[in-house]
Amino acid sequence: MRRRRFLEASRTLTALRRRLYGGGVAEDALGRAASPHLTQQASLYVHWPYCLKRCSYCNFNKYIPKEKNDHIMTQCLQREAETLLQLSQVSRISSVFFGGGTPSLAHPSTIAAVLDTVSKRASLPDEAEVTLEVNPTPAGTSRLEDYVRAGVNRFSIGVQSLQDKDLKSLGRDHSSREALQTIAEARRLCPGRVSVDVMFGRPEQTVEAWADELSELLTACDDHVSLYQLTLERGTQLFKQVQSKRAAVPGEDATADMYQCARRTLHQHGFEQYEVSNFARRNSVSHHNLGYWKGQQYIGIGPGAHGRFVPLGEGGVVREARTQTLEPDVWIREVQQRGHGTRRRILLSHLELLEEVLVMGMRMTKGINHKHWEFFSPQMSLDEVFGGSVEVRQLLQSGQLILDDRGLRCSWDGLALLDSILPVLLFELKRQIPQRKPGDLSVYSDG
Ligand SMILES: C[S@@+](CC[C@H](N)C(=O)[O-])C[C@H]1O[C@@H](n2cnc3c(N)ncnc32)[C@H](O)[C@@H]1O
Ligand code: SF4
Repeated sequence: MRRRRFLEASRTLTALRRRLYGGGVAEDALGRAASPHLTQQASLYVHWPYCLKRCSYCNFNKYIPKEKNDHIMTQCLQREAETLLQLSQVSRISSVFFGGGTPSLAHPSTIAAVLDTVSKRASLPDEAEVTLEVNPTPAGTSRLEDYVRAGVNRFSIGVQSLQDKDLKSLGRDHSSREALQTIAEARRLCPGRVSVDVMFGRPEQTVEAWADELSELLTACDDHVSLYQLTLERGTQLFKQVQSKRAAVPGEDATADMYQCARRTLHQHGFEQYEVSNFARRNSVSHHNLGYWKGQQYIGIGPGAHGRFVPLGEGGVVREARTQTLEPDVWIREVQQRGHGTRRRILLSHLELLEEVLVMGMRMTKGINHKHWEFFSPQMSLDEVFGGSVEVRQLLQSGQLILDDRGLRCSWDGLALLDSILPVLLFELKRQIPQRKPGDLSVYSDG
């Protein structure tokens, strides 16, 4: 029996949002001078936590609003952006991503206000990528033009499926026709800068039906596609349905076939896969997401947002993993009281930093080049860390992994097996990089 374990492509965004990192690289965990090149720049993630209703599969940080509070949310997002920009001493924001929840429910003036604050406190170049996630609900579509006026220049549309019955069972509040209309409208406004999110491995889905659906999508979509394998998240309605056998999701082999089928089809249509779940034509890659995979510094504002940056403004010299308070009303109170809603800060040790660089970098088809690795690990090259391991050599010999003069990366087949390759690499990294004493790793709560 073919048993191909492949990385849960679907979790890219989930993983990204939850593990998003940035990176002023400190020389080491004990904190010699942080590299100014990396600490002066960051991307910005803005989390809009509200949705009109709960989709059956989703466990993102989202809430159904009790009342409209756009004005307060706007003020708090602005205030938190100011505080964290000041704390990080970042002088240039390279890209902005409004994610959620459903940020296309936010008023365009909120988007404009946040961008205005950012450009007053740091430089936000005209060419910077500014993405808005859009739900193709009738409520959102009429305003796409207003978002462009507010400063958005890229749309990421949550299509999820083009089958109306699937959309219904997933709890989506739009039809496939509305999704196609939204794509068309977005393409008219931002040609070449529209992405679609689609999920596969959905209940009752077959490989054949998925192939047909992809063909239809390819006639309508622009130059960027994100494909996510549906993950059954504990606590969701879908999880319960599958547990109680009221719904069934395709097996591992069928899902692996869907992934490979999609990779081949997209390739035939001129799309280059540049990351486990992401495909672009005409080089329309997501610069914001590439920043995460390349270990760039990142500020996250809004309830539950994550960030990775060096808090130079308060004398910090190592990169921190920061998480903002999840619950919007509590987050609002905290921002009003102390300027930010940071709930958790973790100082990353040198090993943890390299683990993130490895896990995120290996998601890219280009992998991690030598220069990139050396930047984060000046003491030990890729060859020195991984070259001596028997297990890594086996992966190289089997053709799943490549380590050459370009760097370390997965082969085409290897990328589909990334979740079984990563533990081998992480084990070797841990063996080679000295662990700091427990006291060097600080976990503390700010809230
Ligand atoms: C959290 S949503 C936010 C965007 C927007 N609210 C929407 O639903 O389109 C971002 C993306 O994550 C993906 N996603 C959410 N939950 C998922 C799950 N359980 N498994 C796989 N992908 C998921 C969907 O493709 C979705 O477009
Ligand atoms: S609209 Fe998006 S964020 Fe909201 S519940 Fe559905 S998938 Fe989750």
